[in-house]
Amino acid sequence: MEEFNFIVATKDIVGELMEFEKICFEHVPDRFSKRSLTHLITAPTSRTIIIRDQNGRISAAAIGLLRHFLIPSGRVYKIGVIPDFARRGVGSALVREIERWFRESGMKKTCAEVRESNTPSRRMFEKNGYVETGTLYCFYANLENGIKYWKDL
Ligand SMILES: CC(C)(COP(=O)(O)OP(=O)(O)OC[C@H]1O[C@@H](n2cnc3c(N)ncnc32)[C@H](O)[C@@H]1OP(=O)(O)O)[C@@H](O)C(=O)NCCC(=O)NCCS
Repeated sequence: MEEFNFIVATKDIVGELMEFEKICFEHVPDRFSKRSLTHLITAPTSRTIIIRDQNGRISAAAIGLLRHFLIPSGRVYKIGVIPDFARRGVGSALVREIERWFRESGMKKTCAEVRESNTPSRRMFEKNGYVETGTLYCFYANLENGIKYWKDL
């Protein structure tokens, strides 16, 4: 398996992350504002992990959230891999790395929501052991349904 160098993002790279999101997320409402990204990078209950390519550019990123519910549960809030690096196991590696942080932080479960039409993402989560548990009707800004996935850690 290919080895990746995971870097925990710091707020000085927010501008870079915004550029990365423009390449990765085709739906404009799926891109986060500078304020949201800064909050997600700095809040103690969230972590943004990036991978850089050989030229130092961000090639992939994932954001995880810790939720201290009755059953502590992590949420893979966002994940993206630039098209040039797709289908090389980068997304799956990021999911595993976020899950490692969830476990380390006491989370017992992990979940994710994915656009119903987003076959690559749905397959990626399914391949990594996530089980479809329901439909979130009109969940996204364009009223597309979301699919909810859960996995025990
Ligand atoms: C979803 C995404 C993160 C997957 O990243 P990735 O690095 O290509 O994923 P992996 O290489 O780990 O793929 C794992 C599995 O997912 C499935 N998969 C990935 N891309 C696929 C595609 N285009 N079509 C069908 N299945 C796909 C395959 O089962 C794949 O395993 P395989 O290559 O052994 O068959 C990437 O496509 C992406 O960034 N998409 C745009 C942003 C997005 O939609 N993010 C998710 C919502 S927040």
